[in-house]
Amino acid sequence: MLKMNLDVGNIRKDFPILSQKIYGKSLVYLDNAATTQKPLSVIQKINKIYTSINSNVHRGVHYLSQLTTNLYEETRKIVQNYINASNSSEIVFTRGTTESINLLASSFCRSQCCKEDEIILTVMEHHANIVPWQIQSDIIGIKIKVIPITEIGEVQLENIEHLISSKTKLIAVTSISNVLGTINPVADIIRLGHSYGIPVMVDAAQSVQHMKTDVKLLDCDFMVFSSHKMYGATGVGVLYAKENWLDKLPPYQGGGEMITNVTFKKTTFNKLPLKFEAGTPDYVGVIAFGEAIRYIESVGLNNIYCYEQKLLNYATEKLMQIPKLKIFGNSYFKSSIISFLVDDIHYYDMGVLLDQFGIAVRTGHHCAQPLMNALGIDGTVRASFAFYNTKSEIDILVNAVRHITSIFRAKQKVKTQFY
Ligand SMILES: Cc1ncc(COP(=O)(O)O)c(C=O)c1O
Repeated sequence: MLKMNLDVGNIRKDFPILSQKIYGKSLVYLDNAATTQKPLSVIQKINKIYTSINSNVHRGVHYLSQLTTNLYEETRKIVQNYINASNSSEIVFTRGTTESINLLASSFCRSQCCKEDEIILTVMEHHANIVPWQIQSDIIGIKIKVIPITEIGEVQLENIEHLISSKTKLIAVTSISNVLGTINPVADIIRLGHSYGIPVMVDAAQSVQHMKTDVKLLDCDFMVFSSHKMYGATGVGVLYAKENWLDKLPPYQGGGEMITNVTFKKTTFNKLPLKFEAGTPDYVGVIAFGEAIRYIESVGLNNIYCYEQKLLNYATEKLMQIPKLKIFGNSYFKSSIISFLVDDIHYYDMGVLLDQFGIAVRTGHHCAQPLMNALGIDGTVRASFAFYNTKSEIDILVNAVRHITSIFRAKQKVKTQFY
């Protein structure tokens, strides 16, 4: 049994944005799956870099350039330790999860796939883990196969084996659905893939900030995630890949710093991971990302997981008491994401009215239209919680949903009486 030790009152003081008023009401920020808020230490770090050490990385012999380069490379080690990678050269910095998947899809398909080869995805993938493969499908002619889900929103593991063929080149799955909150059994999927000699990519955009990640233990071949969903700055992401894969894959973009020698006849590429980091990276964002990881570690991932599970259970129980409210995603293994609809109230109306209460939720298809099609809907309201959220914020959400629902019901009653 994990013991929780979290002082949320003090934690909230680290996030200046949370004390804001929206339309005169306290901000209730429940859109954490889209992006998380930033603690003061991250904001101050960005300020400090620009005010005292700003200089381009990997190319200067002067003092400031060496300082920023050291801090940039230090962050690579922080990320390596955070996900327990074997080597910091296995950490490639990108602009975000989306760019990491585009990099992988382009380099992997170009070097490893032929026409008619197959990639397996799940139906619950974010567009970021669908469209890059479709682009490669148009260029190379690969085929995409899709693992369906059960009624409660879990991947149908037994179906994966049916989908695997001698042409399968990669399985790419999300560790947590950004809509359903389902925590997928990625360790089982990786084991299964490897038993057929198939590499596996894990889209960890919704999991690295909520639970311990160990790429060595998981034995995944690739993992991708974004800093901005981990209390860090925007514009920074990670592609983790086992070294033997990074050795095999060709560069994604060409330019400065990814080369060792350039002539008009031939270019040779830099050592790992710089081969994949063309041009000036967002070194300020990267260094601030190191600070964000330090912050997460100071709170403690076990504390975060236990506390967010409590919030999830509390919110689920309270929301379920509202008549005609339906939650999409009812797996026993869930992260702190709740997607719901109430009766025939449009998700957009619900979102706009919740905003009037100072409550920030996400509405729409959440960049997961194939999943929406599978569910037979075109959008939901999504509340997603972080460790700085509280039960009283959930009460505010639940009361507001009740209030909005009662207004809609009263209007409907008038309509039916009138006609
Ligand atoms: C599961 C998942 N994958 C990929 C992405 C894309 O992340 P980014 O926009 O940071 O590139 C998201 C964003 O919400 C996501 O939830």
